[in-house]
Amino acid sequence: MTSESVQFTDKMLLELAADSRRRSHAPYSNFTVGAACLGRSGTAYFGCNVENASYPVGLCAERAAVASAVAHGETEIIVLAVAGGPRESPPSGDLRPCGMCLQFMSELMGPETRVLVANGPDAHLEFTMTQLLPEGFKLEK
Ligand code: THU
Repeated sequence: MTSESVQFTDKMLLELAADSRRRSHAPYSNFTVGAACLGRSGTAYFGCNVENASYPVGLCAERAAVASAVAHGETEIIVLAVAGGPRESPPSGDLRPCGMCLQFMSELMGPETRVLVANGPDAHLEFTMTQLLPEGFKLEK
């Protein structure tokens, strides 16, 4: 999704996350998730959870979206939206990115970077990275 003519709003990112959720591959948990993130360049990237018969191999939507951003040359994410819940249900405001995703996201998202969690069809909750991951692991650089 290029940004040449589009300024991505929070609402658009939540819609992109909900749209990606429809492509989720979640035959084992039936918990479908989509995520969309906005790179510093103004381009948006998205992903969904991709499960596997070998359960631990499965990938969360947030890491799929962030990996896509990095693969397209982004070095900073300025907002990430996620929409997920049991299949066929509206997105659940109880969802939080898992610990593994938060650690992964923290490499490209600063402490005040916003994370939007869809809560029903038209509402969302908003968190900062610090709220979700107050003490992430960092290597000295
Ligand atoms: N999952 C995500 O993709 N993102 C989250 O924020 C929470 C969990 C996925 C992993 C697994 O495929 C399914 O949801 C149930 O845990």
